[in-house]
Order: sequence, then C-alpha cells, then structure tokens
Amino acid sequence: MKRNLFFIFCVLIIFITKSSLIAAEDSPKNIQVPVGTMLIQVPAHFQTKKSPVRFSHSTHLKFSCMACHHEWDRLSPVQGCTSSGCHERLKPSPPSGKPSQNKKIISLTGAYHKACRGCHRNQLKQAIETTKTSSGQKSNIQASGPIACAGCHPETFMAKEHPLTSFSLPLGMITIPPPDGVEAKRSSVNFPHSLHFDQDCRVCHHDWGDGREVKSCTTSGCHDQLKADESSRNISDPKNKKYFLAAYHKKCFHCHLDLKKQKNILVKTDKIDGITALNKNAPIRCNGCHNGE
Ligand code: HEC
Ligand code: HEC
Ligand code: HEC
Ligand code: HEC
Ligand code: HEC
Ligand code: HEC
Repeated sequence: MKRNLFFIFCVLIIFITKSSLIAAEDSPKNIQVPVGTMLIQVPAHFQTKKSPVRFSHSTHLKFSCMACHHEWDRLSPVQGCTSSGCHERLKPSPPSGKPSQNKKIISLTGAYHKACRGCHRNQLKQAIETTKTSSGQKSNIQASGPIACAGCHPETFMAKEHPLTSFSLPLGMITIPPPDGVEAKRSSVNFPHSLHFDQDCRVCHHDWGDGREVKSCTTSGCHDQLKADESSRNISDPKNKKYFLAAYHKKCFHCHLDLKKQKNILVKTDKIDGITALNKNAPIRCNGCHNGE
C-alpha cells in the first residue's frame, strides 16, 4: 500500500513539473507596440542638417512588421534601429576612409532612406503602373507616402507633443479554446501566433487597421454564433459567416490546404525549386491543430 502511494506521489510530481514546464514554454509573452505618431530623431551627439521626421507608426502597421524590423525574430522585444551593432553610424564613411568592420551595415540615414523612401517610391511606381493598365483612375497615386525631402523634413519644423499609446501583442503560442457554451468535441488549438507574422496581420484580423484595438474573433457581433445554421452545415455558406467553427476552419484550415495544393502542383510539374518555400509544417490533420488540453 505504502509503495503504491509513493508511486502515485512520484507520478503526480513528474506530471505537475512537466505540465508547468510546458505551460512556461507555451504561454505567450506580450510586447507593447507603439500606436500614434512618433518623432524620429537621430541621437543627440550627431550634428544634423535636416529636421526630425514625424512618423505615424499606426498608418504603417498595415505592412508586414518585417518590412522595417527586418531582424526581428518575432519572439523577443523589438530593437530600435540605432541599437548597438545595427545602424549606429549616421552617414556612410567616406570611400577613402579606413574600412570599418561594420562596413556591411548601412548608415542610419541610408537605412531610413532605403526603407522609407524606397517603399514610397515602389508604391508610387506600382500606382502609376496600375493607372496605366486600368481605366486611368488617378486617385491611386495618392496612396504613396512622401518622396520629396520636405515631405519628411519640413522646412519649418514645429515642435509638437506626440502622445503615444500602445497595444499589447501576444507572441509565441496562443491557446484557442472553443467559446463558452460549446461542448467541445476536440481539444483546444495550440496556435503559434508569431510563426504567422509573415502574413499581413489583416489576413486574420480583417477588421483591424491604424493601430486600433485588435478584437478577439469571437467578440460579440463577430464570429459569435455557437452553432451552424439549421439549413446548412457548409462552412462556406454565407449563413455560417458568424459561426465560430466556420470562421476558424475557413481561415486556418483552408490556408493550410491551399499550401498543400500548391505544393502538390509543384511536385507534379517537377518544379522542385518552388517547393522549399512551401515545405513548411502547416498542419491539415485534425490533431495537427487540435493538440491542446
Ligand atoms: C514602416 C516601418 C515600420 C513598420 C511596418 C512597423 N514598424 Fe515598428 N517601428 C518603426 C520605427 C521607425 C520605430 C522607431 C525605432 C527606433 O526608435 O529606432 C518603430 C518602433 C517599434 C517598437 C518600439 C521599439 C523600441 O525601441 O522600443 C515596437 C515594439 C514596434 N515598432 C513593433 C512593430 C510591430 C509589431 C509591427 C508590425 C505590426 C511594426 N512595428 C511595424 C517602423 C515600423
Ligand atoms: C512598406 C511600405 C512603406 C514603408 C517601409 C514606409 N512607408 Fe511611409 N507610407 C507608405 C504609404 C503607402 C503611405 C500612404 C499613406 C497611407 O497609407 O495612409 C505612407 C505615408 C507616409 C507619410 C505621410 C503621412 C502618413 O503617415 O500618412 C509619412 C510622413 C511617411 N509615410 C513616412 C515614412 C517613414 C519616415 C518611413 C520609415 C521609417 C516610412 N514612411 C516607411 C508606405 C511605406
Ligand atoms: C520618407 C521620409 C524621408 C524622405 C522623403 C527624406 N528623408 Fe531624410 N531622413 C528620414 C529619416 C527618418 C531620417 C533619420 C531621422 C532624422 O535624422 O530626422 C533621415 C535623415 C536624414 C539626414 C541625416 C540627419 C540630418 O538631419 O542631417 C539627412 C542629411 C537627410 N535625411 C536628408 C534628406 C534629403 C536631402 C532628402 C531629399 C532628397 C530626404 N532626406 C528625404 C526620412 C526621409
Ligand atoms: C489549421 C488548424 C485546424 C485544423 C487542421 C482543424 N481544426 Fe478544428 N478548429 C480549429 C480552430 C482554431 C477551432 C476553434 C477553437 C476550438 O474550438 O478549439 C476549431 C474548432 C473545431 C471544432 C469546434 C469545437 C469543438 O471542439 O467541438 C470542431 C468540432 C473541430 N474544430 C473539428 C475538427 C476536425 C474534425 C478536424 C479534422 C478534419 C479539424 N477540426 C481540423 C483549427 C483547426
Ligand atoms: C494566421 C492568423 C493571424 C495572423 C496573421 C495574426 N494574428 Fe493576431 N491573433 C490571431 C488569433 C487566432 C488570435 C486569438 C484571437 C482570439 O482570442 O479570439 C490573435 C490574437 C491577437 C491579439 C490579442 C487580441 C486580444 O483578444 O487580446 C493581438 C493584439 C494580435 N493578435 C495582433 C496581431 C498583429 C499585430 C499581427 C501582425 C503582426 C497578427 N496579430 C497576425 C490570428 C492571427
Ligand atoms: C494565410 C495562411 C495561413 C493562415 C490563415 C493560417 N496559417 Fe497556420 N501556418 C501557415 C504556414 C505557412 C505555416 C508554416 C509556418 C512556418 O513553419 O514557418 C503554418 C503553421 C501552423 C502550425 C504548425 C506550426 C508548427 O510548426 O508547429 C499550426 C499549429 C498552425 N499553423 C495553426 C493555425 C491556426 C490555428 C490558424 C488560424 C487561427 C492558422 N494556422 C492560420 C499558414 C497559415
């Protein structure tokens, strides 16, 4: 009897330690993402010629975070552009100068101009191209940001307050349980949020923009229906738009299935090169997603 109790005790201890370890690994860390307009100023020890730049982080959040934070691993805090080892120098060193060990890293000015002006230029180019091919609508051209110097460095710079707020972004694994009131047939889903940041955030958060609060999928008024429509169980039926299962499976499951289809086409046509990019683990088996508690 004593031995049995001891055995149960040991199993319990192992079980508790293991599940708390797993919980520590899985529980998402959150980072604060600034919302509003920030003032981009080079560090004070540099002599500057141009005014600081007002930059709306919010209006730019519709782009991939990695368009600017290109070294972000999506699991750690985001580093500033002037962090040590990154764009520390203001200007490129003159060609005659001693080769610096950081030669490959572009200067701060270069980095900002390349990222900021570069994208604005591309956007303008694309807008002009679409106007050429489409019926001549001019409105698209305004969709690009400034390219001219004064667009970012105004001649007369007025110091203003820049109140920034922020929202909390969960990184790592999010556990998605079915909504309250549903008798679960499957286990909850362990969803690696950060692994999906290559996608535009709005692929999933389709109503989000400009740094507004990100709403949960099952928020009341959104995908808050707990059952399929009486007349149709088809998840693609518009009647089931608010049915939570339909929303999740249509989004998650269908994207993963599409990837699989694309990969199969490449395999059939022997286009091996394209496959590596698609050779990722995007599960389509039920327990590939339903593997939580
Ligand atoms: C168009 C460029 C751009 C995009 C896109 C962008 N950011 Fe930023 N972000 C910046 C700049 C510039 C700063 C200020 C960096 C500095 O101070 O050196 C910044 C600052 C931040 C900071 C604060 C870093 C610090 O030093 O404390 C966080 C966090 C952040 N961004 C997260 C994100 C996330 C998450 C996304 C995607 C949803 C994103 N950003 C998209 C340009 C961008
Ligand atoms: C991935 C593309 C992209 C990058 C990178 C980018 N921008 Fe923009 N920017 C845009 C677009 C598109 C607009 C047009 C405005 C809109 O979308 O509302 C814009 C608008 C602007 C505006 C006009 C005011 C506003 O916010 O609407 C300013 C100023 C600006 N960008 C500054 C910057 C700076 C500074 C950087 C670099 C830190 C930067 N942008 C990086 C695409 C980009
Ligand atoms: C899309 C926005 C954007 C445009 C357009 C732009 N810059 Fe900049 N520039 C920046 C940012 C951001 C920085 C880094 C922050 C700062 O120094 O204000 C910067 C830094 C600089 C610096 C180094 C800092 C200083 O003040 O001496 C110079 C010089 C400069 N820019 C000149 C120019 C010139 C000249 C043009 C036009 C050919 C131009 N910029 C167009 C965004 C822009
Ligand atoms: C790509 C991820 C993914 C795959 C693959 C997937 N599901 Fe789901 N499923 C979800 C998400 C996310 C939810 C919503 C969260 C929840 O209810 O657990 C969900 C919800 C459900 C629900 C409603 C909640 C419940 O537990 O009763 C059922 C039933 C379900 N899925 C069955 C399946 C079956 C059967 C398969 C395999 C044919 C499958 N799922 C494959 C992501 C997936
Ligand atoms: C592949 C789909 C997908 C992508 C892409 C995605 N998310 Fe999410 N995100 C989710 C899901 C699912 C949740 C959990 C929602 C829930 O609890 O209902 C979530 C939760 C969040 C939350 C917490 C919301 C809350 O209820 O507190 C924030 C904030 C968030 N995401 C921001 C972002 C940002 C910013 C990006 C782009 C860098 C992004 N997400 C990309 C699917 C995605
Ligand atoms: C737009 C396409 C797309 C959408 C939408 C999407 N996924 Fe994925 N998912 C991927 C890709 C691509 C990967 C592989 C990522 C990688 O390995 O870099 C992936 C990987 C995964 C993995 C496996 C990660 C691992 O290696 O363990 C899970 C689990 C997963 N997704 C669940 C979900 C759930 C749940 C949703 C909906 C809330 C969802 N996905 C929505 C494209 C998508």
